[in-house]
Amino acid sequence: MALRPLHLLGSPVLRERAAEIGEVDDELLHLVKDLFDTMHAEKGIGLAANQVGIARRVAVVQTEENDALVLIDPVIVEREGRVKGEEGCLSIPDIFGDVERSAHVVVEVTTTSNERVRVEATDLRARAIQHEIDHLDGVLFVDHLSPLKRRMLMKKWQKSRKGKEGYIKEVQREEEAGSRI
Ligand code: CO
Repeated sequence: MALRPLHLLGSPVLRERAAEIGEVDDELLHLVKDLFDTMHAEKGIGLAANQVGIARRVAVVQTEENDALVLIDPVIVEREGRVKGEEGCLSIPDIFGDVERSAHVVVEVTTTSNERVRVEATDLRARAIQHEIDHLDGVLFVDHLSPLKRRMLMKKWQKSRKGKEGYIKEVQREEEAGSRI
């Protein structure tokens, strides 16, 4: 297991359309483990490969303890309903906005054992899946907001970035991160 550095808004890889995976190999399985590990260290519910600097179509989602999902070459094949909900993103820390998404999706993915299967999801899990697939297309949640709201949040983001250089953030394990009160 290894933690990978996170790419933040401003890093070009977040705007790339990630390349198809095709066959699952050991290197990819290793990346999947690292994505889970990095996501858990950051207390996220989803993480796409772009966010660790790798433009390949793989992401992980976990909204509850027992619902870990690996998305390899994911394609949404069914959608139903529309629902608004608040989203954030590990690549844009401390910025949140309401995004309208499909309420229910069926997504076709390749599993880690190289099979093509369909997975159904609703509510937060469906939202996280759509958010992660957006990442693989170089799309960020702020792109879905109104121009006014986006401008407001980008101002806040730029303010929070003052004095900071670069767009890569080292991720620490919780026990190494020092005490938080
Ligand atoms: Co995100």
